[in-house]
Amino acid sequence: MDRSHPALTHTQVLPSVMSADMLHLGDQIDALADAGALALHVDVMDNHFVPNLTVGPDFTAAVARAARPRGMLIDVHVMVERPGNLIPLFAAHADAMSVHLEADPHPHRLLGAIRDAGLLAGIAINPGTPADALADLAPMLDYVNCMSVNPGFAGQSFVPGTPAKVRRLRDLLGDDVIIEVDGGVGPSTIDGVRDAGARWLVSASAIFGSPDPIAAYADLARRSRGA
Ligand code: DX5
Ligand code: ZN
Repeated sequence: MDRSHPALTHTQVLPSVMSADMLHLGDQIDALADAGALALHVDVMDNHFVPNLTVGPDFTAAVARAARPRGMLIDVHVMVERPGNLIPLFAAHADAMSVHLEADPHPHRLLGAIRDAGLLAGIAINPGTPADALADLAPMLDYVNCMSVNPGFAGQSFVPGTPAKVRRLRDLLGDDVIIEVDGGVGPSTIDGVRDAGARWLVSASAIFGSPDPIAAYADLARRSRGA
């Protein structure tokens, strides 16, 4: 993992490929790279921790084959009960991995294993989990995925208390831990989370649900820079 990559220091939009056109994914990844995207978000779901089923390591490897030659990082969001077994399976195809605080009783151990695998280590928290639950994990964290919807589906409404929660996470964890916001991020919600200090802004439907996904990405990317 290249810790000097600009994706770690710039506030930016991470397109979530969950809602991409899967039969034209390579072309969409290329076009996003041309438009300046620095990282992609991959949502992994197990139909146990969340009531939906998506993709796994092989799909992530295919995304990485398209995205890495363009200099993009791969952020894997693992919405799976007991995710520890999956860490080695994703390690070669991802740069950052978040696992859910609610999905395993040993998050401290998991974060150590993710770092030992050479990845940025992240914890994701559901909207119902308080920011302060992360206090004792701070030294183990590279990033926090602050969910702004209940995980499981693209296209849900943004939970309004999220910007205040991002501010609380900033106060608690400081500037070195990246705050990611995931769910319902679009033109009407992005400014609030950016201003609160979130650096990784994940978006699926607002990009891929648009008639022109690249123009929608470019508009969100401009807003992420405060322009
Ligand atoms: C939801 C996923 C999100 C999802 C976001 O469980 O973690 O990453 O793709 O989708 P939108 O942007 O449509 O809310
Ligand atoms: Zn996600």
